[in-house]
Amino acid sequence: MWGGRFERGPAAIMEEINASIDVDRRLWREDIEGSKAHAAMLAAAKIISDADARAIAKGLDAIAVEIDSGAFAFSKSHEDIHMNVEARLKELVGEPASRLHTARSRNDQVATDFRLYMRRSCDEIAASIRNLQRALVEKAAKHAATVMPGYTHLQIAQPITFGHHCLAYVEMLERDRGRFRDARKRMNECPLGAAALAGVPYPIDRERTAKALKFDRPTANSIDSVSARDFALETLAAAAIAASHLSRLAEEIVLWTSPHFGFAKLTDAFSTGSSIMPQKRNPDAAELCRAKVGRIAGAFHALIIVMKGLPLAYSKDMQEDKAATFAAIDDMALALAAMTGMIGDLVVNETAMREAAMRGYSTATDLADYLVRELGLAFRDAHHATGAIVALAEKKKKRLDQLTLADLRRIEPRIGADAFQRLTVDASVAARASYGGTAPANVAREVKRWQEKLK
Ligand code: ARG
Repeated sequence: MWGGRFERGPAAIMEEINASIDVDRRLWREDIEGSKAHAAMLAAAKIISDADARAIAKGLDAIAVEIDSGAFAFSKSHEDIHMNVEARLKELVGEPASRLHTARSRNDQVATDFRLYMRRSCDEIAASIRNLQRALVEKAAKHAATVMPGYTHLQIAQPITFGHHCLAYVEMLERDRGRFRDARKRMNECPLGAAALAGVPYPIDRERTAKALKFDRPTANSIDSVSARDFALETLAAAAIAASHLSRLAEEIVLWTSPHFGFAKLTDAFSTGSSIMPQKRNPDAAELCRAKVGRIAGAFHALIIVMKGLPLAYSKDMQEDKAATFAAIDDMALALAAMTGMIGDLVVNETAMREAAMRGYSTATDLADYLVRELGLAFRDAHHATGAIVALAEKKKKRLDQLTLADLRRIEPRIGADAFQRLTVDASVAARASYGGTAPANVAREVKRWQEKLK
């Protein structure tokens, strides 16, 4: 492509380090789409003839068929996807192919292709997140009143409903979805026509190519157009945060399905066995989802280190922007799909959850709240009295609701028999009907809201 000033070809190792075709070949759709839009614009602006533009478009369509069917021979000697396509176009349509690269450069070409790819990735990830949200909302609908222990410090804190717990993830995933939507919105400007870095001396119509490629507008500064990769960084940052959320849910599935908790089971479809221990059921998919954040956050790190300190405009360093980014997008898609499968598959053991919720004096706060609301104690005093009651229960090796009224009155003589009603886990969750609280009635209402929103 630049043979004019060169006498010899590259050293083998030069070709090896320079070629990106093994990574960027997956941009072929975007590359062909971008070239078609560019050729059509060149013809409309009378920079090339209509006949040339038609030949180019026909050739590009033929190449798309070849690549799609696996018949296309990618070559390292043509370095990247842009030159592989152009070289083949020359073979197929001859002279008009040589006019396609008028008023553009690979710098704006790759920036355009990559943006198109990341834009589609954002859309696909957002759709996958929505699928996972739907699975969680369905679980929440089924378990609006299923009582489980809520934890702080992984110590039993207060009873909660499993539905409420599921909806906590739906909320975080909604913010994740928003981050991908935001990234998409900001990246949706078309760099095509910036050329190498300074723009072109032809009467090109950048509005037209931007529109043809469904961008909101052309980018306003040619230097920024070819040197910006923050659209990929932003997407990777959103992915790293979303992956960290998946990792928390994955960890909970690992805990819940362990015999120590026994809160839930994954069916055979989402369990693996051990080659030596016949009794084992391992939650491998959950563990892998827990781990994916490492690779995904790593991709963000890799790209930001590549980009930091690069002088404007394009440097070849930027070719290293794609491998880890593509892998992270693949990982994200896989983790979301696996997690959606697992949530659908998860069989909840309501009895085990309820029994666990009754342990650990989980309704001690309810007793304190009783003392405040019925006897008019200050919360701090109520907290103190309840602490003494918990100590007594501990000494007697009893749950709070297994103490006698006399036991309770030894510590606070004014306690009535009605206190016992407050000490059940069902009363505890039902009482927490404040906005955003865990009460089954709240969960049912929130499930409806989400079902509507995620339709
Ligand atoms: N393969 C290159 C990349 O991905 C395309 C742009 C090459 N531009 C250049 N001036 N060498 O970055």
